[in-house]
Amino acid sequence: MNSISSPVITETSTFAIDVEEGLSKYPKQLSSKYFYDAAGDQLFQDIMAMPEYYLTNCEYDIFTQQKAAILEAFGEAPFELIELGAGDGTKTKILLDYFLQQEADFTYRPIDISGNVLTQLTAACAEQFPKLKVDPVKGDYTEALAQIKQEDNHRRKVVLFLGGNIGNFPLPNAKVFIKELAICLSAGDLLLTGFDLKKDPKIVQLAYDDPAGITAAFNLNLLTRINKELGGAFDVDKFMHWETYNPLSGEARSYIVSKEEQLVQIEQLQLSVHFEAWEAIAVEVSAKYSERDIIELAEETGFTVNQNFVDPKAYFMDSLWELKV
Ligand code: AVI
Repeated sequence: MNSISSPVITETSTFAIDVEEGLSKYPKQLSSKYFYDAAGDQLFQDIMAMPEYYLTNCEYDIFTQQKAAILEAFGEAPFELIELGAGDGTKTKILLDYFLQQEADFTYRPIDISGNVLTQLTAACAEQFPKLKVDPVKGDYTEALAQIKQEDNHRRKVVLFLGGNIGNFPLPNAKVFIKELAICLSAGDLLLTGFDLKKDPKIVQLAYDDPAGITAAFNLNLLTRINKELGGAFDVDKFMHWETYNPLSGEARSYIVSKEEQLVQIEQLQLSVHFEAWEAIAVEVSAKYSERDIIELAEETGFTVNQNFVDPKAYFMDSLWELKV
């Protein structure tokens, strides 16, 4: 027998660690970044197609109606058009198409954590836009941006962070995130961020609590994911989706609420989770901003606001910032 015994390596995923930590603390918490397994991706597509979820259409309107002004505001070419969390790039393609028509000199650099997403996006771009220069970067946002900065090709960077994704950071975390981005940029580089604006609270509430229950299914799918991937025994019918919108802070918050007292085993974590009746798990924040909030955020993170692009209903704003010297 070999006298040197190798250590037992247990592959514990970040998902498992975060679920264990989040369900062991009080109040309970799970991150919305885990919504997006294959079923979650499909449900998010369904959300974007529903009439109550106005965000996607508003940004689509901004891009279709104001693409010329956006290109002009990006200033002199050449530039690197860097997109954080590109996904399938549906809305970005409106800009890409127009920029190519105008013969702007730029390279499209989508960043995504998923190599699969990048391969599909690159193939789709090659088919739809044969003349587009695409140079994808795999990794988390700040890692990938740091890599781009190291390339040091002296081309101006224009970073896109679209779709209201910034809203999924609570405000203090949004500040930290943008400061981290700023470290990877140089003075004069640009950041175009999509912000969902504060509006009639009823409209926001409905966007996250639709009568057809698609958002509820999207959120509760997180429990199904724990069942599938971690051997959980959640009975999803014993939980409900709950949404609150606070017009003062601008935070729409989603919760998964236990309808009764229960004990749920999660086999792979060797954990049994106790829920009181009506105990909640905090799962998502979707922050809404006023124009004043946006200006303050820019100033506190080292940027100045160059220009704002708003849809005709004034529901959504793509705000273009420049990094100060
Ligand atoms: C991805 N993110 C911007 C969406 C949002 O609006 O916060 C996720 C979402 N959650 C429920 N509906 C949509």
